[in-house]
Amino acid sequence: MRILITGGAGFIGSALANALVADQHEVLVLDDLSAGDPSRLGPGVLFHRGSITDRPKLWTLLQGVDCVYHLAARVVVAESILYPREYNDVNVSGTVALLEAMRDVGIPRLVFASSGALYGNQEHQPIAEMARPDPLSPYAVSKLAAEHYIQTIGALWGTKTIVLRIFNAYGPGQPILPSNSSVIPLFIKQALGGGSLVIFGAGDQTRDFVYVSDVVRALVSALHIDPPNRCILNIGSGTEITINALAREILTQTGSSSNTIYSPVRGGGVSRLHADLTLARRMLGYEPQVTLQEGLRRILQEDPRFT
Ligand SMILES: NC(=O)c1ccc[n+]([C@@H]2O[C@H](COP(=O)([O-])OP(=O)(O)OC[C@H]3O[C@@H](n4cnc5c(N)ncnc54)[C@H](O)[C@@H]3O)[C@@H](O)[C@H]2O)c1
Repeated sequence: MRILITGGAGFIGSALANALVADQHEVLVLDDLSAGDPSRLGPGVLFHRGSITDRPKLWTLLQGVDCVYHLAARVVVAESILYPREYNDVNVSGTVALLEAMRDVGIPRLVFASSGALYGNQEHQPIAEMARPDPLSPYAVSKLAAEHYIQTIGALWGTKTIVLRIFNAYGPGQPILPSNSSVIPLFIKQALGGGSLVIFGAGDQTRDFVYVSDVVRALVSALHIDPPNRCILNIGSGTEITINALAREILTQTGSSSNTIYSPVRGGGVSRLHADLTLARRMLGYEPQVTLQEGLRRILQEDPRFT
């Protein structure tokens, strides 16, 4: 198949691009490099620098494409609180621009990387897809709005759409962002550097950390299913861990004698995130394979920043 990945030079997108090339697909990447790095892309991936808002470029790249993976987005929760309009411009208006171009060219399938962040604080855990979203940051709002556009417009124009709500992805090469979302590489860097691990809040908030190769397998599976209307699937590890326990595990695995210090809680944070994977198992045959302990071991062995 001929596949276009927006945001394909990013952390998840580049891993997806390389996996799809290994599966013999023809893979095009569109990325404006605001956060991406094309050196992550292996041979065989056709890289194009540009924005999802560049209509002529999109039109050209979309010719003959069987499926679009839409991953291009601004992704830093804390930054979205400072610059919500930028997040709206890229994550929402950029998505609508992509949808229009897809309609004009006649692209039959779209897979969208949405986020577990849009659930916000939920009483019932693990969180199933039918839970009412409670976005707590402009980033989360933008992912929810993009989902609505994708599903509404997809249904109107006959595009097959699959929305994957990815929880906290991690793995080798994950950039260290000024955000809780990259807490794993940040803690590893702090532990190896002998500095304190800075925990926002009491550290009893939980996250569902999912290894990047598991996310990629879910994305690849979405290429082959016949989705029902409103196909929304959680992608996580199916387990939750507190940030305190994560810090302890990283200190153990790195053999670090660093301490943990506590800083006031930041806006936009969610208290518990734990994905219910029932639907993803049923629809995609998805089964996470890498435990957090194993994923951390792999980062420490494979990520050149930490070896
Ligand atoms: N990493 C996670 O834990 C996680 C969790 C849930 C959802 N997601 C979603 O998955 C997707 C990929 O996330 P990631 O962690 O790889 O982030 P990333 O920042 O590494 O990747 C996003 C890519 O989009 C590109 N981009 C940004 N604006 C663009 C534009 N206007 N036109 C073209 N490209 C543009 C960036 O340069 C970057 O390469 C995002 O949509 C994100 O919201 C990620």
